[in-house]
Amino acid sequence: MTKPAGEKPGSQTPMRSGEWFAREGKYGFIPRSWMRSQGFGPELFDGRPVIGICNTWSELTPCNGHLRDLAEFVKRGVLLAGGYPLEFPVMSLGEPLMRPTTMMFRNLVSMDVEETIRANPIDGVVLLAGCDKTTPALLMGAASCDIPSVLVSGGPMLNGRFRGRELGSGTDVFRFDEDYRTGRLSREEYAEAEAAMSRSAGSCMTMGTASTMASLSEAMGIALPMNGSIPAVDSRRSRLAEEAGGHIVSLVRSGTTISRILTRAAFENAIVVNGAIGGSTNAVVHLLALAGRLGVPLTLDDWDRLGADVPCLVDLKPSGRFLMEDFYYAGGLAALMKRIEDRLDLSARTVEGAAIGDRLKRADCYDDAVIRRRDDPVTELGGIVVLRGNLAPEGAVLKPSAASPRLMSHRGKALVFDNADDYRARIDDPDLEVDADTVLVLLNAGPVGYPGMPEVGNLTLPAKLLAQGVTDMVRISDGRMSGTAYGTVVLHVSPESAIGGPLALVRTGDEIVLDVASRSLELKVDEAELQRRHAELVLPPPYFERGYGHMFINSVQQAHQGVDFDFLVGATRIQPSKVSF
Ligand code: FES
Repeated sequence: MTKPAGEKPGSQTPMRSGEWFAREGKYGFIPRSWMRSQGFGPELFDGRPVIGICNTWSELTPCNGHLRDLAEFVKRGVLLAGGYPLEFPVMSLGEPLMRPTTMMFRNLVSMDVEETIRANPIDGVVLLAGCDKTTPALLMGAASCDIPSVLVSGGPMLNGRFRGRELGSGTDVFRFDEDYRTGRLSREEYAEAEAAMSRSAGSCMTMGTASTMASLSEAMGIALPMNGSIPAVDSRRSRLAEEAGGHIVSLVRSGTTISRILTRAAFENAIVVNGAIGGSTNAVVHLLALAGRLGVPLTLDDWDRLGADVPCLVDLKPSGRFLMEDFYYAGGLAALMKRIEDRLDLSARTVEGAAIGDRLKRADCYDDAVIRRRDDPVTELGGIVVLRGNLAPEGAVLKPSAASPRLMSHRGKALVFDNADDYRARIDDPDLEVDADTVLVLLNAGPVGYPGMPEVGNLTLPAKLLAQGVTDMVRISDGRMSGTAYGTVVLHVSPESAIGGPLALVRTGDEIVLDVASRSLELKVDEAELQRRHAELVLPPPYFERGYGHMFINSVQQAHQGVDFDFLVGATRIQPSKVSF
């Protein structure tokens, strides 16, 4: 070695990248020489922090289509702070295009991130994410290495506008679809609305899963202030990316790894904030999985205990009226957090090297209609409630702020669909025996049954009931729901039907009782009959016989455990000297 491995002159912090670039002889010559082929100079090899910019840019992920531009600002921030940036791609997950569902690939991307970081001379990483699953996937991968990390989100699209009306991604698609199916919207109007909804770069501008995960990253301190809400095309988003480049260099120099930021306190804060923003139910599985990677004890019940009684204060679609652009102008997440600061652990650390409470000192709300006061909430219960009973022994979730108050206590007869295809084939049958009190039950939509647990849980109502003016019904499944969707929808029923969970035992005509106040979900069939049905149960054949899908269904955990692979739980700390030659 010409000098201590990777140590920057004057610094006591050894750089992991030095194990590649500071070596004597051919093992140093090879990485240096080949990196020079890209025009990189000796500064890359002089011991300064090498910062990976992990990019999920892809033209197949429209919400992340601008991330290569954003990466340039991160690079400038890294260079200004004395680091050396190296951008690398990982698999991207585009919600609108991928089949069967992006969730099937979240864990795969996390492995891509983890192994790319682990295998390369990277000292710290900036994670560029946007569309729903890209944020948890990147955080999970970085967490598994426990490397210094900052998350930068691509930001939400500008508000959609159509014929004088504001449009929210996803949320208004569901409304348009109902209007189209019932003849209230023409084909031409339907096509016109497509262009009006998505009119700029960025992710869905409702408080869907992408905005929820970007906001919760901000709440957990792993992303900078305003990360969740600055519009994708606002110049302040570029400035945020540049600042992130500076902060990651500081984090590397101080040896502050992601596990120092994503502590139990950070997760607890995130659960409380999720209630106050009326966040997506998908955050439940993502945060459970992320906590599992870090060894942070977090359970499904923590969501109810910590967040269920948090009032929803952000009046954003799908639960409310406004959109992410309005949220930013109103003061963003810091203003919201200030309104619930008595519920937060203000000492939790952030990537700026300070406490999360420091962010709130400068926060102010500029629009009480968008960020409501505590005495004027959008809904009293903004968080996620966890239901249990003989239908969901390991739990199920429901988002009260997106549901109908009149259905919070409901007794109805089940109408069972064996799978998503069966549902699609029969739901609009004019002879279907269904009324507004019926409980729609969808089987085989869980992690194994429909690999990845797709967002099919908010079953569209039967056309004949929509025509009668019915707007909501109780729906139950082991699937998920889009963060932009709404309705009285019981999701993530665990264990799932495809592995023999009790949901598989429901028959059309059975009585089901939902009582949110007592957190209860019961199938009113006597135990002897349930045992008889269980004995006769025939499980569906495996969805995949080979390849990644095969690995997925054999390794995936259930919803109450975060849908992570069993072999990925727990971090393997990145080692500074795992050079194999
Ligand atoms: Fe990408 Fe909604 S489809 S964020």
